Amino acid sequence: MLFPSLVAGLWLLATTASAECTRGFLKNATDAYVAAQGFGQTSALPPLADSFAYVENSVPLDIKAGVLTTPLTFDSNRSVYDTTQCASFTELIAASNAHPYVIHTRILFDSDSQRINLIASVVTDSDDWAFNATGYVYWNSIETSWAPIPPEKRDTRAAIQAAGDAYFNRWNDTSVQIPMATPCARLEGGAYTGRGNLSANTCDIGGFPSTIVVTNRQYVIDEEMGVVDLFMGFPGLDRTYPDIPMPDSHMFRVEGGLIRYIHTVSGCRSVRCGMPRQEWE
Ligand SMILES: *[C@@H]1O[C@H](CO)[C@@H](O)[C@H](O)[C@H]1NC(C)=O
Ligand SMILES: *[C@@H]1O[C@H](CO)[C@@H](O)[C@H](O)[C@H]1NC(C)=O
Ligand SMILES: *[C@@H]1O[C@H](CO)[C@@H](O)[C@H](O)[C@H]1NC(C)=O
Ligand SMILES: *[C@@H]1O[C@H](CO)[C@@H](O)[C@H](O)[C@H]1NC(C)=O
Ligand SMILES: *[C@@H]1O[C@H](CO)[C@@H](O)[C@H](O)[C@H]1NC(C)=O
Repeated sequence: MLFPSLVAGLWLLATTASAECTRGFLKNATDAYVAAQGFGQTSALPPLADSFAYVENSVPLDIKAGVLTTPLTFDSNRSVYDTTQCASFTELIAASNAHPYVIHTRILFDSDSQRINLIASVVTDSDDWAFNATGYVYWNSIETSWAPIPPEKRDTRAAIQAAGDAYFNRWNDTSVQIPMATPCARLEGGAYTGRGNLSANTCDIGGFPSTIVVTNRQYVIDEEMGVVDLFMGFPGLDRTYPDIPMPDSHMFRVEGGLIRYIHTVSGCRSVRCGMPRQEWE
């Protein structure tokens, strides 16, 4: 028989544990993930849950067969933290690596055990959509508006998600208004819409699809950073396989409900999704 005080103590322990999904925990664990990718050592990852799954470019994979076994040198790593879902999102730019990569990674943690349930990455390199890691690291480096949002100016979780959702809802419903700031710029694989005028809203340069239904949206939302990242399947991107959704991640920085920056990575099945290289130069 357990004494009431011991029961109370255990309950306190349990609730304390499940309340541990703080920014500090997520930052520490995500830093460990970044370091593990740097070393190319899966053994350096934070603890994995028994039900742990690894997914690379939408394909479930043995983590030992994935990019995490390759040491990478990063020019930039940026992470955001979703304490509500106990999840993180990381953008890794490895432009000066011998084999350049840009990687977007979503990590889901079990908030009770603090172990990792899922690592899902979109891993892009030279054969992928608009890929130019040199461009990615350069344009990312000149973006000035990535500081934490002051508490009184923070959007709600719902407002941040709505901005990202509107962007994709527009792809099959031309009546949707996408909330964009001026300036607004999109970094797509390494190509930058803002290159001609950094003060303008160049996210709205037209060319949005009108018949693409974006499904399977997976969100990581950080109110402090004003960021929503969506992992999703992008049908129609690969011209050679128009019916197969390509693995894609779009990170949106949202300020006052309006999109300020978009960073995208999109995997292809055929070389450059069947597009000539000049298309985005
Ligand atoms: C990630 O970026 C931080 C600075 O933002 C840096 O201190 C750290 O060394 C980077 N990690 C790796 C593995 O490159
Ligand atoms: C930070 O993460 C490392 C690796 O997962 C872990 O060993 C350490 O206990 C963590 N520290 C804190 C303060 O959470
Ligand atoms: C990649 O981006 C850099 C920086 O914008 C640019 O100088 C370079 O020409 C681009 N390379 C290709 C292959 O598009
Ligand atoms: C767009 O796709 C969504 C999801 O399938 C659907 O609910 C909506 O009706 C579509 N909108 C239009 C205008 O076709
Ligand atoms: C750049 O964009 C801003 C804002 O839209 C506009 O006021 C300005 O005239 C543009 N500059 C050039 C050189 O086009």
